[in-house]
This record gives sequence, structure tokens and C-alpha cells, in this order.
Amino acid sequence: MKIGVLTGGGDCPGLNAVIRAIVRKGTFHYEDGFVGFMEGWRGLLEDKTMELDLFAVGGILPRGGTILRTSRTNPAKYNDGLRRCSENLRRHNCEALIAIGGDDTLSVAQKLFENGINVVGVPKTIDNDLSGTDFTFGFDTAVNIATEAIDRVHTTAEAHNRVIVVEVMGRDSGWIATYSGIAGGADVILVPEVPFDVDQVAELIRQRHSRGRYFSIVVAAEGAKFADGNEKHCGPVALQAGKDEFGHARLGGIGSTLAAEIEKRTGFESRSVVLGHIQRGGSPTAYDRVLATRYGLGAIDMVHRAEYGRMAALQGNKIVSIPLLDAISTNRKVDKEILDVATGILDKLDFKVSTTA
Ligand code: F6P
Repeated sequence: MKIGVLTGGGDCPGLNAVIRAIVRKGTFHYEDGFVGFMEGWRGLLEDKTMELDLFAVGGILPRGGTILRTSRTNPAKYNDGLRRCSENLRRHNCEALIAIGGDDTLSVAQKLFENGINVVGVPKTIDNDLSGTDFTFGFDTAVNIATEAIDRVHTTAEAHNRVIVVEVMGRDSGWIATYSGIAGGADVILVPEVPFDVDQVAELIRQRHSRGRYFSIVVAAEGAKFADGNEKHCGPVALQAGKDEFGHARLGGIGSTLAAEIEKRTGFESRSVVLGHIQRGGSPTAYDRVLATRYGLGAIDMVHRAEYGRMAALQGNKIVSIPLLDAISTNRKVDKEILDVATGILDKLDFKVSTTA
């Protein structure tokens, strides 16, 4: 069978491991042939392809990024975009397409499926916010990078008697902030799920310092929101106006905004660091390499079982197949149980959990 493969949206450690698993099992076990569509949906829209065979996937297992490259192109925004995608698949005699991506990429996969294309999805995002799957690959790597950064920030904050705010990724969900905040021993963890009151954050830090501590670490997801009534700030902090083709604003700046507000209220010298794309680059952890490999194998098996319009998912410790619609219907918020772990070890604040899945 001839199968198209593409990677869309923000890159993620483990993408190459998925591609490699698809090509190796497809070649060795099913005698498949592959076409790599490059730069996400742009490749399918504009017919930009690369050869995808055993040679192409040689040596890519530990490599970050994606040999297919990626983009945030949304074919539904282009005249005839979905039709052009279908035509290009036909031009290459592809009987099926494996789309590796997050909710945006998979929402396009669903549209193509509704237009009669045989699509299988693989869940990808460091943010871990796709529904229907326990973990997305790339998340573990991002958490490990963020945790190491928090460990490093700890020693310099301690040496200088400072408050340091560490801004991590997480647009709609605070999975990276919560996991790395717990693992790194942060004093305050702020996530999009729980809008925060900056006065309470400042008070908590003041209390902590009055007990003899002289430094504090705050971990904030980029999408963490100031609660209503906080001066000029309300909602998440955006870097600039304008949206991408899927309608997302570019978030960023919560770290420096928060550091300034904390310093103003407490008088403690404060700094911020933004981990940004460092969390997405480089080699995947062993856990992510194994998970990504399992997703790749799951996806190629699903193609051969004709389970289209579905996505490979991790539930418990099993790879299963779920409808794409289940994965993209809502963002997966941090589980209440995990938030409770964070609040259980942190100083008590009067935060109200607004939305938990
Ligand atoms: O992949 C998701 C994500 O990591 C979000 O947390 C973040 O807002 C976004 O990507 C940043 O993407 P870009 O690479 O377009 O700046």
C-alpha cells in the first residue's frame, strides 16, 4: 500500500521516532511504500514531497525536530485547500495518510476524513493537552528540560536572595508547569486552569520569606491567567497582536510581567526566565522514544485494519485507537489529582480551581 505521512504544528521531540517506526514496520511487515509530505499541511497543499524509505529514516531515532519539517498551515483557510490536498494524495497514489500532530493538525485530518480520505492520526504535543490519550510523546522530554532548568535557577536564586519566575510552555493547559514545578520543588505553580490573584502570590512569597526563607521559585505556564480585577492585567499575556492560521495568539511575557508585579508588592528582587523553544528542541528522552515508536507502530497497524478517522492513543499502558473527534473536541486540562499533588506540597493559597477535567 502507498501511504502519505506528514508532521504538522509545533515540532516535538520524538517525531522522528514515530516516522521511523511507521516506515520500518510498513516496509518490513506490510511491504508498504511511503511519500513524505513536507512542512505539515503545506506539503500536501502545494505538493512538496520527499522520499520516505528505510534509507531516509536511518539514524533519526535520537534526533529532535522532524525530517519532514513542519508548519502551522491550515488548508481549510485556502481556496479549495481541502480539495487540493485530496488531489495531491491521489496524484501520488496514496491510499491512506498518517497525520502526526496536535489538535490543529488533527482537526484538518478530521475534515479530510469527512471528505472521504483514509486518515489516521498520531497525537503530538509537548503540552500534553490532547483528549483521549494519557500522554503525548514529547511531554516527558519537555518536563525533564524544564525540571533541569528549575534546578539550576534554584541555586542562583538562593545565592542572590531572589525570586525567579520560570515561564514554561502550555497555552491552554498547565501540564508542563505542574509536572516540572512538582519535580523541581517550585514554591508557586501557576497554570491556565486556575486563574491567579497576584496579591495572593505576593503574600504567599512574603509569608515564606518571613519563615526564614530568602528566595522563591515560581513556575508559570505561558497561558496562566491573571484573575479578573488584577489591575491592567486580565487573562493570559500575549507577545504580540495577530493570530496564526488556526486562530491562536502568540503567548509569552507572563514571566517578566509577574516578576515585576511580585517585586513591586514584596520589595524582593525578582527575575524571570523564559524556557521557550529550548523545551521543544533536541533529543527525546528514552521514555518519549519508546512511546513515539509505539504510536508509530499503532498508526501503521490501524491503516492496515482500515481504522480510519481515528487516532492512536495511550490508555493505561496500552496503545488503542479512538475517534479523531474524541481527541480534538476539547483541550485536556491537568487532572484534578495532579493539581492536588501540587497544592498538597505548596503553601496554602485561596485559589479556586475553575476548570479541571
Ligand atoms: O506546541 C505547542 C506550543 O508549544 C505551545 O505551548 C506554544 O504556545 C506554541 O507551541 C509556540 O509555538 P511557536 O513555535 O509557533 O512559537
